[in-house]
Amino acid sequence: MVVLGIESSCDDTAAAIVENGRVVLSSVVSSQDNIHARYGGVVPELASRRHIEMIVPVVDEALKKAGVTLDNIDAIAVTQGPGLVGSLLIGLSFAKSLSYVRNLPLTGVNHIESHPHAAFLVDKGEEKEAPSFPFVALIVSGGHTTLLLFEGYTKYSILGQTLDDSAGEAFDKVAKLLGLGYPGGAVIDSLAKEGDPLSRAFPRPLLGKGNLDFSFSGLKTAVLTAVKASGGPLTGQALNDIAASFQEAVVDSLVTKGLWAMRATGAKNLVVAGGVASNSRFRAKLAEAAETEALRLFIPHPKYCTDNAAMVAALGTRQIQAGLVAGPDLNALPTWEGF
Ligand code: KG4
Ligand code: ZN
Repeated sequence: MVVLGIESSCDDTAAAIVENGRVVLSSVVSSQDNIHARYGGVVPELASRRHIEMIVPVVDEALKKAGVTLDNIDAIAVTQGPGLVGSLLIGLSFAKSLSYVRNLPLTGVNHIESHPHAAFLVDKGEEKEAPSFPFVALIVSGGHTTLLLFEGYTKYSILGQTLDDSAGEAFDKVAKLLGLGYPGGAVIDSLAKEGDPLSRAFPRPLLGKGNLDFSFSGLKTAVLTAVKASGGPLTGQALNDIAASFQEAVVDSLVTKGLWAMRATGAKNLVVAGGVASNSRFRAKLAEAAETEALRLFIPHPKYCTDNAAMVAALGTRQIQAGLVAGPDLNALPTWEGF
């Protein structure tokens, strides 16, 4: 089954062609970072307008790169939510029109549920072990910090999530207040390599036993207070130290809760996805934990960790196979609650 995936939930317009929920024939992502950078965050109205401009060329490019035409497509999967409603509606309207005109089955995908499906993806000719069920998924990105338990391709439950900012948002907001630009996660990662993670004792909230939720807004405030107390913009070693200590607090919370979730569920496979999965300290600590706890760790290739449409096509394929086909009334669901 060859599925066209479409993703427009936030600030990336993406399309991908995936075979049998696993082999990526093409994956095209048009980023809007340059449009939003000067505002220090995503501006919803600008995002929607850019999606309108990019959706047709991006789908066209995905078909061309895969070496297929619409005649080869068996079904369409589109992100239904959560996300910015104006952005979601562009992908949805396009997918519904194409499905109607070409008489192709359509399925609506939960963006967060689709992130861990990136762990099933391989490029053409690549061989890679896929995670086995049950697995715990830790999704850490600009938009989400969520722990899910997967017992089947389309069978999941929520174990925990952030009560305020996402981990990526914390990285971006702290980067902004340290004067490091947007998005700033990767910059903090590189400065932290030269810094002392024990230079400051930043808070690790919600570490009550068994609590699988996250909270990062207090940490952001603690960094702000430390910057103000230092009496001016931080530079050099002081900047590296604060970056390292902040990063250590985020990574500690993520790894601790991830391991608790594994113990609570008895799962032996852990999938980590989302843009923050690129963080080098996080990856090192995860690898260490996997070794000592005898867990199998799956972190998708960075290009499938950040927002993309291949993961949407992968989950969409499983949904179609399970008979989850949508009609023309398929609508955007901006929040989790709708699902
Ligand atoms: O998955 P993604 O594209 O987010 C959403 O669109 O939801 O990931 C982007 C996020 C940003 O917050 C960015 O700062 C963060 O991932 N990020 C990192 C690193 N690379 C990207 N955070 C920490 N360390 C990194 N190396
Ligand atoms: Zn995402």
